[in-house]
Amino acid sequence: MTASHAFATRYGAWAIVAGASEGVGRELARRVASNGVGCILLARRKGPLEELEGLIREESGVQCVSAAVDLAGPDALDRILAVVGDKEVGLYVSNAGADPFASAFLDREVGDWLGLVQRNVLTTVRCCHHFGRLMRQRRRGGLLLVGSGAAIGGAERMATYAGTKAFELRFAESLWAELRHFEVDVLCLGLATTDTPELRRLLAQTGQPVPRRMASPARIADIALARLPRGPVYGWGPLAGMRAAWVRERVKLFTSLSSNVLGRGTHVLGR
Ligand SMILES: NC(=O)c1ccc[n+]([C@@H]2O[C@H](COP(=O)([O-])OP(=O)(O)OC[C@H]3O[C@@H](n4cnc5c(N)ncnc54)[C@H](OP(=O)(O)O)[C@@H]3O)[C@@H](O)[C@H]2O)c1
Repeated sequence: MTASHAFATRYGAWAIVAGASEGVGRELARRVASNGVGCILLARRKGPLEELEGLIREESGVQCVSAAVDLAGPDALDRILAVVGDKEVGLYVSNAGADPFASAFLDREVGDWLGLVQRNVLTTVRCCHHFGRLMRQRRRGGLLLVGSGAAIGGAERMATYAGTKAFELRFAESLWAELRHFEVDVLCLGLATTDTPELRRLLAQTGQPVPRRMASPARIADIALARLPRGPVYGWGPLAGMRAAWVRERVKLFTSLSSNVLGRGTHVLGR
């Protein structure tokens, strides 16, 4: 079995990449497609999505569809489901997640922060719940959450962003603990400074120079797909110190300690 055949067998026919129009999401979609998995590309801007759709068909020959969906909208999952139809989604990638504001919490209207929470937390939870359930039933699939070193600690001008990224990390660790018994992979990929158009827009907005050393989205995408079966975490910068093997042991220990109160979990059914 070739590596790409093994990938397609492990994850199934279709992947959703939420936040695919540029940067890491765009590269992840190209890598997923090159492994023979069809792509459903989501972002707000239709133009770049259609350009990527064409590129993917040309490069990989797989089926590809795209749709303009605002992941910060309360109806995001309904809109995604309308695009998905009866396609079997075996991989859900949550990439859109940056904070475009770089502002102190009280210096912006609360609606801006609620939009960030809606996109990074509520839409992610809804999508992982919907697609994760189907994956668990089929006993195959993957959830890939693109996270950040901001998950590790708070800082000025990061209140809501760091909060959502911390949520994402612990959410992924816990989902990994539950879904590993059902052959569903879960990985939180914690990025540090990465050369994306969004980061460059932010640097221009804040008047900061472009850093000399930044990770490349293409390299990140390669590593993400290689690490996906070995969750729950892989990262750069502040998350580089979190060895996946150590995190796995911690998650298992917490599961065991909390069973005194929570009882034995659904994993028993997975055996
Ligand atoms: N770049 C870094 O240095 C860095 C560092 C740490 C962590 N990260 C993490 O890496 C991920 C990607 O970051 P990024 O720098 O590429 O910026 P990003 O804005 O999170 O991601 C860009 C992609 O998300 C889409 N997007 C953004 N908001 C959306 C919305 N409301 N609805 C639908 N699509 C949306 C964008 O397309 P449209 O504009 O067309 O919607 C684009 O395709 C994020 O989760 C971020 O937290 C990045």
